[in-house]
Amino acid sequence: MLMARQTHVSIKTPEEQARMRVAGRLAADVLDMIGEHVRPGVTTDELNDLCHRHIVEAQGAIPAPLNYGGGGGRIPFPKSICTSVNHVVCHGIPGDRRLKAGDIVNVDITVIKDGFHGDTSRMFLVGKCSLQAERLCRVAFEAMWEGIRSIRPGTRLGDLGHSVQRHVEAQGYSVVREYCGHGIGRVFHEDPQILHYGEPGTGLALEAGMTFTVEPMVNAGRRHVKLLPDGWTVVTKDHSLSAQWEHTVLVTPTGVEVLTLGAADRTA
Ligand code: MF3
Ligand code: CO
Ligand code: CO
Repeated sequence: MLMARQTHVSIKTPEEQARMRVAGRLAADVLDMIGEHVRPGVTTDELNDLCHRHIVEAQGAIPAPLNYGGGGGRIPFPKSICTSVNHVVCHGIPGDRRLKAGDIVNVDITVIKDGFHGDTSRMFLVGKCSLQAERLCRVAFEAMWEGIRSIRPGTRLGDLGHSVQRHVEAQGYSVVREYCGHGIGRVFHEDPQILHYGEPGTGLALEAGMTFTVEPMVNAGRRHVKLLPDGWTVVTKDHSLSAQWEHTVLVTPTGVEVLTLGAADRTA
């Protein structure tokens, strides 16, 4: 999300946590479903339509991106998912572009079920990709997990951000600054902002019952980004490749619960 001013961080009750668990699992299920369709020749619009129908018809849920963010002169997001290909950093709008072998694409799914949001994204490699593209996707995945692993009550947000940034920069890549993770619940984007860079020992201290996303955007080149005239699509200024993974998490009394694990990673 775009950075906003920080105010109030909500603590979810056990009942709210249960509903977040359901929404998170549904969002992950959409990514599990779409994986086999992400292949050369498919358009991002076709991916959007498959996800939209799955969310609405099979899940009885709502695709949160559709018409999101209008008002105040802003253009509402016109589709149900985000598809961000190659040098697109985030918020790519599905369209008639056909994926081809060698592309990397982030598919970002947010569903609303029973009033609560689940938000998760993964990178998909289309056919055979360059070693550089594979490595970028792997490092972005590892960076997200470095951040998640740091989470427990008392962790400061600067600690979380630092753990992500350290991993990315040690590989010679850069972390996008203008977009960040976010608190999530009844509201899609709520406090706090989760920066993917930072200074250890600074910032808000985490507490059990907080729910937020960890979603680092990692560029192969420089960190700078620009917004396209469509009002949504964010690209790297230097046109280098960019990769992102996202989970929604809950801070527990002893650590962290990841609410958007795919079926292959769920034990229960
Ligand atoms: N899912 C994105 C996030 O992780 C937000 C997309 S907003 C949209 O925060 F309007 F572009 F869909
Ligand atoms: Co998010
Ligand atoms: Co998302």
